[in-house]
Amino acid sequence: MNRTDYVIDQMISAKSIAARVESLARAIEAEFAGTDQLVIVGLLRGSFVFIADIARELSNLPVEVDFLEASSYGNSMESSREVRILKDLRGEIGGRDVLVVEDIVDTGHTLARVTEYLATRHPRKLRTVALLDKPSRREVDFRADWVGFEIPDEFVVGYGIDYAQRDRNLPYIGKVRFPANAEAAATDGAA
Ligand code: PRP
Ligand code: MN
Ligand code: MG
Repeated sequence: MNRTDYVIDQMISAKSIAARVESLARAIEAEFAGTDQLVIVGLLRGSFVFIADIARELSNLPVEVDFLEASSYGNSMESSREVRILKDLRGEIGGRDVLVVEDIVDTGHTLARVTEYLATRHPRKLRTVALLDKPSRREVDFRADWVGFEIPDEFVVGYGIDYAQRDRNLPYIGKVRFPANAEAAATDGAA
């Protein structure tokens, strides 16, 4: 989709995100105090910005970073509901402390499936943190242990989250809006 087809309104500023990430990290630090090694697992691709920030806020803990990829919505705005593991962890998590780091919980299918999958390897402790949560969209019973912000059912982008693979690199969370006359406006502008 052409960028001129939609508008992005800021919903959560980079400054608010940074403050919230810091407070989440303090809670996570308390939960995992004394750990010999905490494996933080980012879900590709949406979590890459959040995990980078949270990892650096956890610099008082011995942290290992790993990634996992579950089947994606792709370029669709709808959940496929059947979540498969496309790329597995590189490291072992059996008997270890694990924190799954996710950008957003929507229907809940992704994190429900991923945590169920990771639990089969018997980590010592398995916790989840999501920057955003849309509780009104939930289709399966799933709750992250820590949530940065609860948001209404709006289509959001930025801070790792995409719209058709775009806008992941925005430093803030934005709301996507589709003005009825966007195409006409773009054509007028070019004339
Ligand atoms: C998005 C988002 C979450 C998931 C949440 O990922 O990053 O991982 O959907 O949706 P759910 O709670 O309804 O399962 P997506 O599948 O778009 O892949 P991406 O991270 O590569 O963008
Ligand atoms: Mn994702
Ligand atoms: Mg996506």
